Amino acid sequence: MCGIVAYIGQRRAAPLILDGLQRLEYRGYDSAGIGLMDSAGSFELHRSVGRVAALAESFEAGKISATLGIGHTRWATHGGVTVSNAHPQLSCHGQFLLVHNGVIENFRELRQFLVEREYSFASDTDTEVLVNWIEFCYRQESGVGIGILPQALRKALKGVQGTYGLALLCRDFPGTLLAARNGSPLLIGVGKEEHIVASDAAAIVTHTSQVIYLRDRELALMSGDELQVSTLQAEKVLTQVCAIDWAAEEVQKGPHEHYMHKEIHEQAQAITEALRGHVDERLASTRFGGIEPLAQELRGLHRLIFCACGSAWHACLEAEYLIEHYARIPVEVEYASEFRYRHPPLARHTLVIVVSQSGETLDTLAALAEAKRRGCSVMGITNVIGSSIARETDCGIYQHAGPEMGVASTKAFTSQLCLLAMLAIHLGRLRDLDYDEGLAFLRALRELPQKIEETLRLEQEISELAQRYAAHEQMLFLGRQTLFPIALEGALKLKEIAYVQAQGYPIAEMKHGPIALISEKCPSFIFETQASLFPKTRSNIQEIRARRGKVILVTTPDIPCDAGECEEHVVVPKTHPALQPILAIIPAQFFAYHVALLRGCDVDRPRNLAKSVTVE
Ligand code: AGP
Repeated sequence: MCGIVAYIGQRRAAPLILDGLQRLEYRGYDSAGIGLMDSAGSFELHRSVGRVAALAESFEAGKISATLGIGHTRWATHGGVTVSNAHPQLSCHGQFLLVHNGVIENFRELRQFLVEREYSFASDTDTEVLVNWIEFCYRQESGVGIGILPQALRKALKGVQGTYGLALLCRDFPGTLLAARNGSPLLIGVGKEEHIVASDAAAIVTHTSQVIYLRDRELALMSGDELQVSTLQAEKVLTQVCAIDWAAEEVQKGPHEHYMHKEIHEQAQAITEALRGHVDERLASTRFGGIEPLAQELRGLHRLIFCACGSAWHACLEAEYLIEHYARIPVEVEYASEFRYRHPPLARHTLVIVVSQSGETLDTLAALAEAKRRGCSVMGITNVIGSSIARETDCGIYQHAGPEMGVASTKAFTSQLCLLAMLAIHLGRLRDLDYDEGLAFLRALRELPQKIEETLRLEQEISELAQRYAAHEQMLFLGRQTLFPIALEGALKLKEIAYVQAQGYPIAEMKHGPIALISEKCPSFIFETQASLFPKTRSNIQEIRARRGKVILVTTPDIPCDAGECEEHVVVPKTHPALQPILAIIPAQFFAYHVALLRGCDVDRPRNLAKSVTVE
């Protein structure tokens, strides 16, 4: 996903913007650029393909005195990975410099309109169409003074279909920075006589913890240390300054080589934060202040629909098993990108829950909007305070897992699993789940961080195991019941950071096709923590090994697996069945991480992937 960093203040802008762009690298990108404007209104533009480090080496940032600038990391949508397609994009007559996240859907019509009016183009991007459209609207303005700038921008944005988060400089107004958003997040850090505009807090938090979240169809004009926010209808907006709820060092890797490694090891802390303030010993249940507005509706629920993508979707699939088991409420889990188009029947007493670590995934936001359009109440579970999902749902639960910088979700995923298990117990205790079952869950919940720490100590064993399997180009991940979503998640981890053809299945599904893949070239990663089901899993293991397939088996100590029954055997601590998936996924996280390292992959910035997918 693209990243924006812009600065207006008293300090030199170039080094500060480059540092901010490096803090956004985790979002995924393939080119970068920076544009600066001096007090005379002259632009200076530097762009490069590849890493921000390559951009920083291409010029001497420290020698540039400009205190106003805009920067961008681009994840290619319209147009290939080239310098000419990198942002900032300069308008045809040189009056504007623009960086933009999002997709302009009517860019073809606008481009044709502009070509007919002698506008020329140097790139294949929709962003260049946008900056030329803004310039065209600006040159139509007859007034004078700084007011024509936001006026022209409003007029241009009203003519745009699609999504944008943007930062804009105009040569005619040195010392002025414009920002606007619709569908792509943008925050404004409020510092001492300075403002930092960025796509997410990671680029702001080292300068200030005070931020303003721009909302859809709002624009901001910063001039000197003045800030004015208004709507596209030119109504003044009373801004609310919020505090970022985590510290700058949380976005540093510390002693870890990769963010993913750090975040795997932060899972005990993330679970501690997930359960903080949500345990109700007196009622032998869990409680969530954030969903109080739905308390009555939760009692009378007839149906629950989850919408999410990727790992969040796997967490929701886990929630289906748990909520149907403990609360006896029918649950459906929808890929957000499917839900928004398939027009499902949505009867009364249906609650839609959207789950998203970033709170900005466009498919999930679109599913949210569709659910609201159909009259459903919508609840959100997200890890980012002030995110679009946090603002657009009727109520919700924050994960408080701390910033997750690695593209591969780890602590956010297990934090979601924990919160969804707690929600299942909450809903169950509103219905027929008895007091003792509630107490047993709470007891296991209290012990969970310690059991995660115990499981994390398996890393060395798994890194050695990974060496024996890193050369394999394909792998099956298999699990039953509440471990089937874990099999899917384990496959996704290996797929997205080690580029291995990994597929997850319910283990009993093997005989319906996947077993055709089994050979010494295709090992299987199997999860089994229910002793009563182990005899069936044992048969599946034998079927695999009879066809020279190697087996990596993850179990709990109570599973009677004999020595020699599988090639590799990893044992995780036993816990409550509703929480066991949280421990079971950790070996698969370590396995994917170490295989990726052995295969020379960029663990934190895997190819083609972005941390939060804000395009459709
Ligand atoms: C998971 O490791 C991936 N990074 C990806 O599937 C991710 O879970 C998905 O894009 C959803 O992101 P979200 O939770 O921020 O909505």
